[in-house]
Amino acid sequence: MAQALTLLGIESSCDETAAAVVRHVPGKHAEILSSEVFAQAELHADFGGVVPEIAARAHAEKLDHMVEAALQKSGQSLGMIDAIAVTAGPGLIGGVMSGVMCAKGLAAGTGKPLLGVNHLAGHALTPRLTDDLSYPYLMLLVSGGHCQFLMVRSATEFERLGGTIDDAPGEAFDKTAKLLGLTQPGGPAIEQAAKTGDPKRFKLPRPLLNRDGCDMSFSGLKTAVLRARDALIADQGGLYCQDQSDLAASFQSAVSDILAEKTRHALSQSNAPAIAVAGGVAANMQIRFALERVAESADASFIAPPLRLCTDNAAMIAWAGIERFRLGLVDDLSLEARPRWPLDTRAQPMLGSGKKGAKA
Ligand code: KG4
Ligand code: ZN
Repeated sequence: MAQALTLLGIESSCDETAAAVVRHVPGKHAEILSSEVFAQAELHADFGGVVPEIAARAHAEKLDHMVEAALQKSGQSLGMIDAIAVTAGPGLIGGVMSGVMCAKGLAAGTGKPLLGVNHLAGHALTPRLTDDLSYPYLMLLVSGGHCQFLMVRSATEFERLGGTIDDAPGEAFDKTAKLLGLTQPGGPAIEQAAKTGDPKRFKLPRPLLNRDGCDMSFSGLKTAVLRARDALIADQGGLYCQDQSDLAASFQSAVSDILAEKTRHALSQSNAPAIAVAGGVAANMQIRFALERVAESADASFIAPPLRLCTDNAAMIAWAGIERFRLGLVDDLSLEARPRWPLDTRAQPMLGSGKKGAKA
């Protein structure tokens, strides 16, 4: 009988400093005893993107506090933890190093085992933490920095079926919001504006839609919005609120159509019994509904973990650590921080996985 495990997880690969404690008793649903996230968004707000040096410094300052808070809220002490899992990549190297150094210090000081976790594996394994999903399943990761279909066969076997060849969808939402004079992050702002918009007013492109396979492209879409906006400004001397809403609705529908159609491809290509989503863009209701409908028509179940577990957090790292620990995949103090770390090492290098950076 496998043992009950309680792991501390640490995440610092982009602009969230997070620590969590997760407990798993074999045969039972895993329990998130605590999950603390410090979002650095405000620190980067003036710069229009994540500044790696600011992020790394903030992680180094915050990590100890987040670990302490996570332990305290979980009712566990360091001595009661079975192992320490930490994101060892991919991500902004200064942040990943801060987390890895923190975890190594804790492991060296307590003699507890150390587990280096791939951040993307953390996202990809989340439906097992939240919904006890069995292998194999399809995962669509859609965030500000990533967009890919992964066939998840085990905690260590991931097959990349396709992904964006340029911008990530969240990045496209953010850039489009900027073009329309909406607030950042662009996703929620566009979703809100789209509520009163006509999605059919502007005929925006759906690149690669009729091509086989699961690759996607979003950068042309943003350029098409720019052209439509400039044509309106040239014509009427400005942009009315209704134009803003109609452009937002047309853009959102195009992204939703692309993701839905490519999900249909990915499901038929893989024959997966289930599809799960993760990443901030999975918060979008139109996109969620579209994916749910595609899953239904393919007779696959659809799993969308709660948003706080779709976006960056440390509970997913602790959980991925639990899965690795059970497989005996423990690291030692030579564990290194890796800026790049593809989950599927056999897949062609991605032409683009989102230009915003390594955030997943
Ligand atoms: O996963 P996440 O929190 O961080 C990254 O890994 O990037 O995703 C953030 C991205 C942002 O680009 C944001 O605009 C987008 O997710 N997003 C949304 C929505 N909420 C957040 N996109 C579309 N609709 C939303 N409701
Ligand atoms: Zn992420």
